[in-house]
Amino acid sequence: MRVTIIGAGYVGLVSGACFADFGHEVVCVDKDAAKIRSLEAGNIPIFEPGLAALVAENVKARRLSFSGDFAASTPNADAVFIAVGTPSRRGDGFADLSYVYSAAEEIASVIEGYTVIVNKSTVPVGTGAEVEQIIRKARPDAGFSVVSNPEFLREGAAIADFKHPDRIIVGVEDDRAIQVMRELYRPLYLNETPMVFTNRATSELIKYAANAFLATKITFINEIADLCEQVGANVQEVAGGMGLDGRIGAKFLHAGPGYGGSCFPKDTIALVRTAQSNNAPARIVEAVVEINDERKKKMAGRVIAACGGSLANKTIAVLGLTFKPNTDDMRDSPSLDIVPALQAAGAAIRAYDPVGMKEAAALLDDVEYAEGPYQALKGADGVVIITEWDEFRALDIDRVKALMKAPVMVDLRNIYRPREMAERGIDYHSIGRPREIFE
Ligand code: UDX
Ligand code: UDX
Repeated sequence: MRVTIIGAGYVGLVSGACFADFGHEVVCVDKDAAKIRSLEAGNIPIFEPGLAALVAENVKARRLSFSGDFAASTPNADAVFIAVGTPSRRGDGFADLSYVYSAAEEIASVIEGYTVIVNKSTVPVGTGAEVEQIIRKARPDAGFSVVSNPEFLREGAAIADFKHPDRIIVGVEDDRAIQVMRELYRPLYLNETPMVFTNRATSELIKYAANAFLATKITFINEIADLCEQVGANVQEVAGGMGLDGRIGAKFLHAGPGYGGSCFPKDTIALVRTAQSNNAPARIVEAVVEINDERKKKMAGRVIAACGGSLANKTIAVLGLTFKPNTDDMRDSPSLDIVPALQAAGAAIRAYDPVGMKEAAALLDDVEYAEGPYQALKGADGVVIITEWDEFRALDIDRVKALMKAPVMVDLRNIYRPREMAERGIDYHSIGRPREIFE
């Protein structure tokens, strides 16, 4: 089938490359001309494992191309995907749908034969109906359907998540669109991936409810971690014991500095707003948003306490800046709260992240960047691990201790074990686990 994807960002680019890999003919369109030029030159503007090879292979097979000219890319498309950004609107937290609406207007101006317009971006309940109105108003003559097809891609695992999803959710209002969607996802459909057809509002809400639930699960274990610290319990073992219950499941129960990223923070707030404006407040999710914001701000206090209460004239090494490993994405990363708070407490910061330092440099001030973890640690009065990159999981602890002025480590991702670190002479602090002290 012929597919046009509007928005060549984390979601649009992965979706376009995977649809091309299914055998469809795909054009990815983006208003950012520099991004299109970079893609046409074979450079991928985002860090997503496996994406460069997948794009190159499908460009070579002439199944995937890029364009900045939307009008030239769409008239004969069987399906047009809207995968533009839906960031939180400044100030009130509602999803900013201006890009979605402008994409809808652009689509209305060029569609010819029957076309299925697919909202892939995360959009509040009711947006599908609004997109339909925009296009219907501009083109009462046109034959089209507007469909909701939310993405459940985790950055760093997006290709695997697209090709091996737990389910495909499709919100439709007419049967004709069902056939097109089945054809689009045929390779997945053939290998028994559940394809759930429902109405648009239900499909739109499934996406928000799923993300808000995952954010709630993380925030729940983060609060249990705080309790563990008071009662001498081990949150990793609590999570393990909980997770063996099939009704709970072990995933997303890793305590940490709070969730970040381009989805959970904005999707939880958007759901809260939708719920409030529909007179059905989501008070649990309201609490999740508040607790998570507070948690990210509190983390710096742990470093200050571990370093004796003051960071004046001290250098703190920061390992990891991105919101999670295997991505360069800094959106709402805990480091954006933690680093400025450490600097406000008087610390000089020397940071290392395997992939995110370029993105971080545009968002953080007065940070010295190191070429590797050991260079960041040299002469430091303390180190805080913010992102659990594999590169930090097997540091040479004797070398760490020898390099640092004071062997103080605050491990916000529980990468290491308290007893081992105490035995190696590290003054080790972590999340939700009893400290081991050897005098
Ligand atoms: C976006 C939303 O943020 C997310 O909530 C949704 O689930 C999927 O789409 P992402 O791909 O990360 O996720 O967005 P982003 O990385 O911001 O990329 C959006 C792209 O669309 C950008 O490249 C932007 O240039 C492009 N765009 C935006 C257009 O081509 N036209 C527009 O009118 C607006
Ligand atoms: C998420 C959803 O997982 C995905 O289905 C949706 O389509 C987009 O949003 P993503 O934001 O890429 O994906 O990352 P994810 O792996 O979900 O992590 C989100 C945040 O939660 C990260 O900051 C991560 O560090 C944090 N997290 C995750 C925890 O703190 N503990 C966990 O156990 C899991």
